[in-house]
Amino acid sequence: MKRLLVTGGAGFIGSNFIRMVLDEHHDCLVVNLDKLTYAGNLENLAGIEGRQGYVFVRGDICDGPLVEKIIDEHEIDAIVNFAAESHVDRSIDEPKVFIETNVTGTLTLLEAARDKKISRFVQISTDEVYGSLGPEGKFTESTALHPNSPYSASKAAGDHLVEAFGHTWGIPYNITRCSNNYGPYQFPEKLIPLMLNNALNDRPLPVYGDGLQVRDWLYVRDHCRAVWAVLAGAPAGRIYNIGGCSEKTNMEVVELILERLGKAKSLIRHVTDRPGHDRRYAIDAARIMAELDWKPSVSFKTGLDKTIKWYLENKAWLENLVSGDYRSYYEKMYGNR
Ligand code: NAD
Ligand code: TYD
Repeated sequence: MKRLLVTGGAGFIGSNFIRMVLDEHHDCLVVNLDKLTYAGNLENLAGIEGRQGYVFVRGDICDGPLVEKIIDEHEIDAIVNFAAESHVDRSIDEPKVFIETNVTGTLTLLEAARDKKISRFVQISTDEVYGSLGPEGKFTESTALHPNSPYSASKAAGDHLVEAFGHTWGIPYNITRCSNNYGPYQFPEKLIPLMLNNALNDRPLPVYGDGLQVRDWLYVRDHCRAVWAVLAGAPAGRIYNIGGCSEKTNMEVVELILERLGKAKSLIRHVTDRPGHDRRYAIDAARIMAELDWKPSVSFKTGLDKTIKWYLENKAWLENLVSGDYRSYYEKMYGNR
């Protein structure tokens, strides 16, 4: 039996991960520690509350005594750290909270893992720690870290701390570095749900710069399967890249969304580029494929269709998010473009 502390489980990937674990691994206990920031939403876990093997705790990963109490009370044996501030544009606007959660929060969890002798610490990181690629090549696990945004710098700092705790105190850890995810429950500040939401409402689609930046897209459930494979079978101290083998320019993604929704390309607006915008990410996922027998199972076209279907069937979920407090931020970021 695995007794998991999953942090950030009310966010996009964390909630998909918890659903998968509870559906497929009935002998697991999952304690979800989430601060419920703007990105954390208990509606992402609708139907999960009250299920056997699931406990929700509202709290901050920077709160050491709380983390230790959870570990003791629930006899936690592994920590999977999804909790983060996760959006590059916000990190350019307000970097400080990224340092608090992504660096201090990770440090706090590591201290608790060390003191409570946790048997596995899985840090959910990102390919963005490697920086930006030119037209050729892919990131491998030995590519030097070269983060360019406050977000990726804070994630890289978290990764360094994890490795340092492994080196200094022998904490059994893994780090996963995944490419861009998409799928159900993604907050509409990220490219795909933002464009979907705007297109559905006949609002302009704000493409940064020329839109020829490249991302390697992975359906969220495939990412969750990869994290489980790492948790269940990876040797300690190993880092794994995770990617979709699915490079697309932003223009390709946006045009496909419009085509699938039957909307006109005239909704596209090229707007001021993101400062320091990384041009291309591409993942070499050979290690996880060879060592843990994982590979992506959902093609981009199939995954996008599944995602569009989900957003169409869950319009209330989307409308609740883009109203209220988030509305003012959304208007500020995208309203005038
Ligand atoms: P998200 O923004 O949707 O969710 C983050 C969750 O963390 C939210 O529920 C939020 O309430 C919670 N949280 C934030 N600060 C917290 C704190 N101090 N204490 C406790 N909870 C806190 O993020 P996501 O897209 O689901 O990303 C999850 C993880 O995966 C992140 O670590 C991110 O860096 C990484 N990642 C994301 C992507 C992607 O495409 N979204 C790709 C690769 C890696
Ligand atoms: P995003 O989803 O924010 O992920 P990341 O920056 O972490 O890769 O953005 C994906 C790509 O889409 C990135 O190149 C920036 C671009 N983008 C736009 O062109 N317009 C937008 O409104 C957003 C949110 C992103």
